[in-house]
Amino acid sequence: MKRDRSSQATPSALLSLQRGLTGNRELAGSGYMDDPAYRAAYADYYRAVSMAQVARIFAVSGISPRSILDMGAGPGSVSLEALGSGAREFHLVDSSRAVLELAGSSLKNMADRLGTAVSVTLTASDLEAPGAYPARAFDLVAFGHCLNEIGAGADGVARRLAVVRRAASAIAPGGAALILEPATLASSRDALALRDALVAEGWRALSPCTAPGPCPALTAGPSHTCHDESAWDVPPEVRRQAESAGLDRDLIKMTWFIVAPPPGIPSSPVLPPDDSSGYEEYRVVSMPMLNKGGRVRYLLCGPGGRFPFSARKDDEAARRAGFFSLGRYDLLRIENPEIREGGWGFGPGTSIRRLGALASAGGAVIV
Ligand SMILES: C[S@@+](CC[C@H](N)C(=O)[O-])C[C@H]1O[C@@H](n2cnc3c(N)ncnc32)[C@H](O)[C@@H]1O
Repeated sequence: MKRDRSSQATPSALLSLQRGLTGNRELAGSGYMDDPAYRAAYADYYRAVSMAQVARIFAVSGISPRSILDMGAGPGSVSLEALGSGAREFHLVDSSRAVLELAGSSLKNMADRLGTAVSVTLTASDLEAPGAYPARAFDLVAFGHCLNEIGAGADGVARRLAVVRRAASAIAPGGAALILEPATLASSRDALALRDALVAEGWRALSPCTAPGPCPALTAGPSHTCHDESAWDVPPEVRRQAESAGLDRDLIKMTWFIVAPPPGIPSSPVLPPDDSSGYEEYRVVSMPMLNKGGRVRYLLCGPGGRFPFSARKDDEAARRAGFFSLGRYDLLRIENPEIREGGWGFGPGTSIRRLGALASAGGAVIV
């Protein structure tokens, strides 16, 4: 990705950006994108991280929008990744005109490299202002790491709910909204509280959630949340910058969900058709954990809530079924689980089928 030529990112700008956005949060909502040093640090480092996160979201959910309303667009992370996977119409909104101009030129450069025509509209506006919403509708309205910069605590969740509610009018029939937020405990729990508030108003959680009602992680207690985490191919320049600033970037971590506005629609053009045929599906929502009893355990989330699914660490049938290579956010259909106290076990008659876009994109289907 090309640099913002007005300045170069420095390790100290990157470090204070990281602290100000995810540590003490002093920069959140402060207009930091108007500062050339922060803008360059974000564009050179965080944009690549956000793009990898969006690629992962598209892979897990199977989403493939053609038109995007990119709210809190920053240097265009969500739109750029979507352009690479087929989107052609972009409307970007941000309070910083300078970062929008950078996003616009990056999109045009990438479209030229791809040899494709794109439509790009830039609107400098506060997301809470009526002028932020264009009078047309899009396949996907995306909020990439921006809602957490609006307010804090319960007031923040209420203000973010009002922003997403208002965005419903900009979602085309069959379209959806994507909310992507940091994975820190507080930001993640706030994002899930927003999800629950939307679901309570009749929005449908399409992905990655498999539980229709309130998020079971939120009700499990104040130290619980649900976040996605995966390894990625760290670009050499991002690795170099992470090392100079002393940041760890081997994993991408985030909290995200895709929701459709009420009234719900049975299948959405931006998502693959629902082929669950009435079967219950469960999402793996943890890494594997080994307990003292010698069992490997994952947390599953789905229609039966959030509960453990375990197998003895030397269970040969479980190994053959791929149990030990399950990953966070894999989508599973599980038949004949062994019913154990407080959860499920891998028993003699258990079969696991890995579903969804990640599986069809090359992952093994496990039976
Ligand atoms: C952390 S950046 C995220 C950029 C990009 N969406 C991404 O995911 O990489 C947050 C962006 O939201 C913008 N932003 C924050 N609060 C805003 C508000 N109330 N109105 C408009 N833009 C806002 C900031 O200017 C910044 O560009």
